[in-house]
Amino acid sequence: MRIPARVRMVEVGPRDGLQNEKTMVPTAVKVELVDRLSAAGLPVVEAGSFVSPKWVPQMADSAEVMQAIARRPGTRYAVLTPNLKGLEGALEARADEVAVFGAASESFSRKNINCSIAESLERFAPVMERARAAGVPVRGYVSCVLGCPYEGEIAPAAVAGVAARLMEMGCYEVSLGDTIGTGTPGKAQAMIAAVAERVPPEKLAVHFHDTYGQALANILAALEMGVAVVDSSVAGLGGCPYAKGASGNVASEDVLYMLNGLGVETGVDLDALIAAGAFIGEALGRPTASKVARARGCA
Ligand code: HMG
Ligand code: MG
Repeated sequence: MRIPARVRMVEVGPRDGLQNEKTMVPTAVKVELVDRLSAAGLPVVEAGSFVSPKWVPQMADSAEVMQAIARRPGTRYAVLTPNLKGLEGALEARADEVAVFGAASESFSRKNINCSIAESLERFAPVMERARAAGVPVRGYVSCVLGCPYEGEIAPAAVAGVAARLMEMGCYEVSLGDTIGTGTPGKAQAMIAAVAERVPPEKLAVHFHDTYGQALANILAALEMGVAVVDSSVAGLGGCPYAKGASGNVASEDVLYMLNGLGVETGVDLDALIAAGAFIGEALGRPTASKVARARGCA
């Protein structure tokens, strides 16, 4: 089995996780979570989202979070920016990188960002331009790469088309999101193969939600295809407010345990990551979704 020797773990819990909470998580809790995650050695922490507070009120305090965190050299703090307004907020908050987010499904695009796929790409163009002028790298997300809550199956060619456009527009990396977690390893590899015809695997990340318990298998399948960037969420927090029933992302602790077992370098400390998961679980009053954390005695 040929898998990358080193993997970059992108922690999305404070954003993808907490955007889905029913109750408002206090800003101070978010700040402590981000700081614990950076202290665990994570190279990228997605700390918030500069989206409309009417759409996602849970992320309305992202500027305050970015202001209060203790920035660790070696960690990049990323935020989502769907449009120029979001980008201006992100630049003011001194985000190290930003992300635009599109979809491979028309229906999901409309539900999530209120426009078609083509319109979303048009909207991203000035965001890319302004970010480039400010020297801030832009990541691109493609949602619903292995299924859509409204349309069902998604053609790999549709994923490849959007991913290729995002790269052409200047994204440094494209994260392929199995938003509803219906993917299985064979389908994940077929989808990545289709995308890899247009975007080299070194420029791809994978972003699996664990709704059907397939995420770790899918990640291993992606590593076999040469993908070396993996998104995950501490304690398996999260889901997407516009994808009903989608569970959290794969738990970061479980991903790290697997990577450690494979001898893949990440620079992340498992005990510190488990402690960060225990902290947020306690704050939310919720048992962890990480099997590794549970095996290590976390409630
Ligand atoms: P819209 O309603 O079409 O936009 O929303 P608009 O331009 O007409 O603006 C409506 C109002 O929002 C206006 O305020 C704007 O000023 C304000 P009003 O005049 O009514 O008082 N507004 C903003 N405020 C703050 N920051 C902004 C911003 N933009 C507009 N950036 C829009 C379009 C894109 C803004 C909206 O649909 C939106 O915010 N969507 C975000 C949805 C979201 O965050 N979803 C979750 C993240 S994606 C995800 O989870 C998937 C991922 O994890 C990968 C995967 O799993 O697949 C990434
Ligand atoms: Mg997601």
